[in-house]
Amino acid sequence: MCGIVGYIGRRNALPVIIDGLKRLEYRGYDSAGFTILNNDEKYLTYKKAGKVKDLEDSIDYNVYTGNIGIGHTRWATHGEPTDINAHPHFCMEGKIILVHNGIIENYKSIKTKLESEGYIFKTETDTEILANFINYNYKNTKDFVKAVQVSLAGVEGTYGIACLCRDEKDKIIAARKGSPLLLAVGDGEFIIASDASAVLNYTRNVIYLNDGEMAIITKNSHILKTIENKEINREIEVLDMVLDQIEKGGYEHFMLKEICEQPESIQNTFRGRINFTTGVAKLGGLEKVLPRLLEAKRFIITACGTAWHAGLIGEYLIEQFCRIPVEVEYASEFRYRRPIINKDDIVIAISQSGETADTLAALREAKKFGATTVGIVNVIGSSIAREVDAGTYIHAGPEIGVASTKAFTSQLMSLALITMMLAREKETLFSKTLIEMAQELKQIPDKIQRMIDRKEEYKHIAERFKNANNFYYLGRGVNFPVALEGALKLKEISYIHAEGYPAAEMKHGPIALIDENMPVIFIAPKDRTYDKIISNIEEVKSRKGIIIALANEEDDNIKNYADYILRVPRTLGIFAPILNIIPLQFLSYYIAVFRGNDVDKPRNLAKSVTVE
Ligand code: M6R
Repeated sequence: MCGIVGYIGRRNALPVIIDGLKRLEYRGYDSAGFTILNNDEKYLTYKKAGKVKDLEDSIDYNVYTGNIGIGHTRWATHGEPTDINAHPHFCMEGKIILVHNGIIENYKSIKTKLESEGYIFKTETDTEILANFINYNYKNTKDFVKAVQVSLAGVEGTYGIACLCRDEKDKIIAARKGSPLLLAVGDGEFIIASDASAVLNYTRNVIYLNDGEMAIITKNSHILKTIENKEINREIEVLDMVLDQIEKGGYEHFMLKEICEQPESIQNTFRGRINFTTGVAKLGGLEKVLPRLLEAKRFIITACGTAWHAGLIGEYLIEQFCRIPVEVEYASEFRYRRPIINKDDIVIAISQSGETADTLAALREAKKFGATTVGIVNVIGSSIAREVDAGTYIHAGPEIGVASTKAFTSQLMSLALITMMLAREKETLFSKTLIEMAQELKQIPDKIQRMIDRKEEYKHIAERFKNANNFYYLGRGVNFPVALEGALKLKEISYIHAEGYPAAEMKHGPIALIDENMPVIFIAPKDRTYDKIISNIEEVKSRKGIIIALANEEDDNIKNYADYILRVPRTLGIFAPILNIIPLQFLSYYIAVFRGNDVDKPRNLAKSVTVE
């Protein structure tokens, strides 16, 4: 959580920092701030509760003339989102100025030690403690780099930091452990940032910092070291991304843009990985572990949130079509319950950001037991992508909206490709079936486009339900996780209470809540569970629940049961969740818009949860 930007170079630092913070705002947006070393050698700091726009609206750019500075946009962990708790933070003497993303877990013991040395604290943040700790070590070492190194060696927890020192005004020190950070190398300028979106406006040349590494940057140089002071040589990477991909491109919200991008993002996921004539799916990134995948006794999929829902769908696909047992684990629970992991297990981590702390920790736990680890990740070069034994990028492109949409469908497409690849190798599907699947796969982008063209219909239904207080989402089989994901989307951005259930579970309790005010969304495509789901619809209807059916375009029968219909094209079961989620994404989006919510920055959330 939280976004960091640091600038040192030939331009005015503040516009670069504000621009970067706006792009990183998806990481946290409850307060923001910056410190600039002005041309008169004075530090000017401004910080404020609220969004980066609020901060920007209350400053005069002309006041901030310097070309060294650091900035931060916050998602609160320690201390409420107030002006005083916003970053940057200072040590008591004002010598050390710090922005921080992460959590200092042993903050109490450091604070106690510092208090015994006479340090006083003004805020409730762990970051202020770290700033004072660096100051304390600076007094002993008289060297900014050493002071940061000694301090970070004594810190437990996670951090991505950018730090200034009044005695060594020419530099910024950045360091990371568990929170992403990169150094962008421009023409006579450097930018430190939590991710690439903050730097693309200026350069595509970047160096990713690994855990335990730091960058010491001055106007003319950058030095990379470990916290233990070993020098590092690392090549500059050129980002394969353009600014357009991270801008709204005429859409009102990133979420709407990302929903509408799905025909293209899905295509990018399967491009070059499937032969439509032979039905052969090939994922280059998995080749080296293919023998292990084929011999595995068990797959364990671990993830959080939307990615976990994708994992549940993966379980249906891999078990059904490849006959490999699959378990799906919440990453946040996995390592705390002493899981049984064997050397011949395959642990698959699914993550859009590749930085989710719980997923990363689950992965590391699996590695400790010798399991083969595989990543299904969107963000290239992210921690999970780098730590797994093998992996596949979903290539959905940057996802900025906090509510995940296109990453979900690309995760599902990746899982479908893995399923097809393994089923062919294991001969659990006939080649004729694989060819049929490949032929159908080719049509998925057009079918998604058909739903995008129907978005006014979905909007109309959203308007009808904009004031609802509760929603049920029900589905069976592979559409049960779609129900969970539909409910999560609604909760996240509309703040309406919503629950997803397997449709047949209703009668075991939740049906007690059905009355004439309860909208119930049934995911009812024409598959082998269709008749069963019609019976479940009857159960709700007879208790006066409002039926919203997600049904195939040619299904006339559904009109006899449903009060409202969300139409979707028909497809094979392996791809059905990819299509069925689209109307539910639109429904949540429009309901949230009708309620006047900030769709791209829903309250209390952040895009990438890099704290436990
Ligand atoms: O980046 P990740 O895929 O690892 O993120 C996992 C969850 O935090 C994420 O899916 C979250 O649930 C989204 N806000 C859902 O829209």
